[in-house]
Formats: sequence, structure tokens, C-alpha cells
Amino acid sequence: MNLINSSFLCLDIGTYGVRGIAHSVRNAKIIQSATHYVKNSNTIYALKCVIDELEQQLQTHFNSAFVTGNFGNADFKTISDITHWRDMHKITEQDLCSQISKITPQENFYNMHIIPIFYSIPTKNNISNTPIGRIDTELKSIFGVISYEQDKTKYISDIMRRSYVKAIGFFDPTFLHNSVYRKPKERVLFLDLGNEYTTVSIWSDRGPLSFDKIKFGQIDITKALASKLGISMQDADILKISVANAIPNEMDRFTPADSSEKFANFSRADVNEIFIPKLIELMKTIYTQSKNCIQQYKPTKIILTGGGSAIENIDTFLERAFHLPVDNQTDAATINALSTYIWNSKLPEREMYVQHQTKFANIFTKIAKIFHKRKNAKRKKFIPVMPSTLCFDMNDYATYSMFAAAGISMIHVDIMDGFYVDNIAGSIPELSNIRMKTKAHLHVHLMTESPSIWAQDAINAGANTIIISTNTSGVKEAINAVKIAGKRCGIALNPESNIELIVPILKDIDEILVMAVKPGAAGQTFDESVLQKIKKLHYTRKTHGLKYLISVDGGINPQTAKLCWNAGADLVVSGSYLAKAPDFPLAVQSLLKH
Ligand code: DX5
Ligand code: ZN
Repeated sequence: MNLINSSFLCLDIGTYGVRGIAHSVRNAKIIQSATHYVKNSNTIYALKCVIDELEQQLQTHFNSAFVTGNFGNADFKTISDITHWRDMHKITEQDLCSQISKITPQENFYNMHIIPIFYSIPTKNNISNTPIGRIDTELKSIFGVISYEQDKTKYISDIMRRSYVKAIGFFDPTFLHNSVYRKPKERVLFLDLGNEYTTVSIWSDRGPLSFDKIKFGQIDITKALASKLGISMQDADILKISVANAIPNEMDRFTPADSSEKFANFSRADVNEIFIPKLIELMKTIYTQSKNCIQQYKPTKIILTGGGSAIENIDTFLERAFHLPVDNQTDAATINALSTYIWNSKLPEREMYVQHQTKFANIFTKIAKIFHKRKNAKRKKFIPVMPSTLCFDMNDYATYSMFAAAGISMIHVDIMDGFYVDNIAGSIPELSNIRMKTKAHLHVHLMTESPSIWAQDAINAGANTIIISTNTSGVKEAINAVKIAGKRCGIALNPESNIELIVPILKDIDEILVMAVKPGAAGQTFDESVLQKIKKLHYTRKTHGLKYLISVDGGINPQTAKLCWNAGADLVVSGSYLAKAPDFPLAVQSLLKH
């Protein structure tokens, strides 16, 4: 499948519902995305509804899809193999293929993923990536193999065929969670609280270290609620998600389970008295099954996914049970991971295409200049959202492609000197490095003392806008230096600082960066009291005919961005929200004015 000019569909087919996400791709960029979820145990019906809805939203037709979901029973093995050669031999792709082809699954199973865990040759024990091209007499390999029973996958293919969609790849959910949510060097315990199965698996940079699918899932908890309370499975499911609480409250005995009439006879405690023992039983099963692996591999965090991740206080419950921090990626984690995985796996082709395009574009521009032809190209809509460099790997070319694909044209470069704020982050060499990698507008946020020295350096390193922090000495000189260099100049106003502080320079500056968090770190909570300040700046600008733009930095997410737009902001900066989002272009869209 080419992801240059096409649309692609990803499906998460569970026993009790189907989730879908689809993207339209033009010129190697995602231009539109749509998601849809239908909760219904009639998989054919749910699948049809999801595909119809996504096709309608994207105005396209899908005849193939990438698929993840509940594929039934799974098996995990580590398999090792050694190949010897009589003389020195250059290891080829063929040699690896022949090792892999020897891995046969157990009867009625097939290998879904074969992941290299370890390669070694006599002259180098432990090769970190591929051994292809190395010269030696022996190759020892260890592979982690995830296999699934054939029946369930056949059944899913069959259902898809009835919706006229062909499966072009099956992916195990934990395999996807590992590729998207685990950071390099982390050793993670993945816990997928699915409906029919609970999957417990430990992964490190090497690959899967353990993988268990336990046939005890959320449905067993729902069944217990339904039978003991004498209600339907559907109602039990509603109670499980909206009432059950992994850490119950003392007042539960006196609180009705739900305001609707059919639950009027139960208290919250009635629900929890059935729910908690079942949850503990599930946790005990998980613990007994994975105790040895946890002790052996010592994961440092839990990444939680699956329908059960929506249970109230489940994170705290797990943190207490396993003594590990929990990163809850919610029940949409699998479908998001599939779409990100597919998109990332086509990165080299996309980059090559973009390079080609740029080359051609340059040639055309030159020709157009010679003949004084005016380009009548439609202008792309400007996106007033700036990703903050603090939360992205700016050495990685993939970051720039991702920004470009989402239509980003301004990047917010955070620089901290360790004096004005406690942290040290960003630097002038890093800024130059970013400049070399992109033509985007660089919006440099100086959280530094001596702003005039830093501003001059930032100008030389290629900054387009320079934001100076208040309460530093030499603000006036810094503004002058920026103006003389012909660059845009702004002032950052900290949450506790009043507008009065900058009134004398309002007419000299191009922008006011309203800080909605204390400068110094990403990931803090938006301080709503700054909204008043934004409104006042907006009003002052209008009444005095001033020209500055109002930008907001810190704690921006779709909810807080909306508050900022309503208050009169022109631009927003976002760090952790965008960096954590599994679908970057979709996340950028979610921050825009709607
Ligand atoms: C805070 C920085 C911000 C920060 C934004 O000192 O100036 O740019 O990285 O990150 P979030 O969006 O996570 O608050
Ligand atoms: Zn910033």
C-alpha cells in the first residue's frame, strides 16, 4: 500500500465492538482523519457501521484494512538458532530468512510476529541491530515468536469479506502498544484489560521477554454483575464503567447506583461488593501468572490499555498492587497505536517522496522566476498552533516530517539557562541544528537572564521571533537588538505578572506570550486565571489600535485552547499534549478554533 496518495483504514475488532480510524493521505501528508466506535456484540453489524461511517466522513471507499483486535488464544515462545559456515562468510538477508523459515508454529496456530531479540557472532557478542553485512563463521539468533490460533483469524477474515474489505495485515495489540507507547530503554509491563482476555507482557529494547494471555477478562466481571444483580449484560456493562470503583468510597452504601429508574434499587456499594472480589480475583490470577517474570525482568512501569482501563481508580489500584507507576493509555490505545505504527512504518517512502517533490518544486520556482510567471497556487490555511521543542526529539528527522504532515509552520523553541528558571533546556547550538533541518518559522522562547546577549545569539542562529522574559535586566536593549535585526519581538508575561508591567512597551512589540504555567517545565496544569489577562490584552489592543499578537504557552489541550481562543488569543503553544497524542495531525486539529 502506498501512503503517498491514498486513504487507509485501521480496525480494532473486539468481541463486543469495533473501533476504526481512517486517514486520507495526499502528497505524503494526512489531510483528514476520522474515527468511529460501535459497541455491539454483533461483529458483522458493528464492522459495517464503522466502515460506512468512516467512508462517508472521508468520502472514499475502502477495500482493504489493517487489523488488530481479539484474535483468540495466543502462544509465545523464544526460539534460538545457530548457523555455522566453514569459512568466513558475509551474512545476508537470505541467511536470516532461512533461520526464520525454520520456526514452525504449533498445530492450528500461525506466526503473527517474529521479533529478533538477540544476535551474536564470535567476534561480537550481542549485536544491537542487524547482523546483515557482518563477516564471521557463525550466527546465533534468538527470536520472540507470537503466534495465534488460525480459527479466530479465519473467522475475522470471513466477517471482513462479508463487508467487502480485505485484511492486509494482522497485528497483535501488545506488539503495537510496545512499538508506540514504550520509550527507548524502558522495561515495561503491558497490561491489556480486554473483554475476553487479559494480556500481561513485558517488553524491553530487546523485544518481548514474556507474554501471557489469560482467559479471564472484563466480560467475566460484567457477567458476575449481571447474574448477581439480575440485570442484562448491557446494563451490567453500564454499571461497571460508570459506577464500579476500584477504590470504593465509604459513602457508597448511601448513594444510589445511578439516577435512572432501573438501577434505583441498588446502591453503589451493591455494585462494588460484587465488582471488587472479581477484580481482586483477576489481579491475583495476573500476579500468579506473571510473578516470576516480574521478579526476573523487573519492569519499571505499567502501560495500561483495554476496556478495563476506563474503570474508576484502576490506575491507583494497580499502582498499589504492583508497586509500579501506571501510564493509562485508555481503551482507544490499540486503534491509535495501529494507525501510528502503519503511518510510521511508511516513513522512509514518505521522506523520499517529499525530497523528490521539493527538488521538483525548486526547479519549477526557478523556471517561474525566469518567465516572471505568477504562481496562482491556493494558499494553505495557516495553523496557529506551535509544538514546543521541549517535548519532541528535534534531532530526529521524523519529527519534522510529522510537523510538516500536520501543516505546522511555526515551531516554539524553548531555551532555559538554569538561572532565570531552575532547569537547563535547549541551547544556541540546538537552535542552529533545528534551523538546518527546517524552513519553519522558529519562535524562540528565551527563559534566560541577560536577554540581549541571548537574543543576539538566537538571531545569528536563525530565529524568526524572539520572546524575552520579563523581570530580567536589559529588556529594552534586547527589544532593540531584535528590531534592528528585522526579526519579530515578543515579551513573555508570567502568570503572576500584571499587564501594567509591560504597558510602556506595548507599542514596540509584535507579540505577548501569556504564560499559563510557571516557566521552567512542560506538563503543568493550565492556570485559568490568565484568561482574564488575555481578555484584557485583546481589549487594549482593540481600543488603542495596537498590533501585537497574543500567544499562550503552557498546559494547552483541546479544552484550554478553546478557552484561549474565546478570550482572544491568536496563537497557542503545546508541548506534552501534542507529544503524547498517538495521532499528531489529529491532535493539532483538535487544538484549532472550531
Ligand atoms: C514551559 C515552556 C512551555 C512548555 C509547554 O516553561 O515554556 O513551552 O514546554 O509544555 P506543555 O504544553 O506541556 O505545558
Ligand atoms: Zn515556551
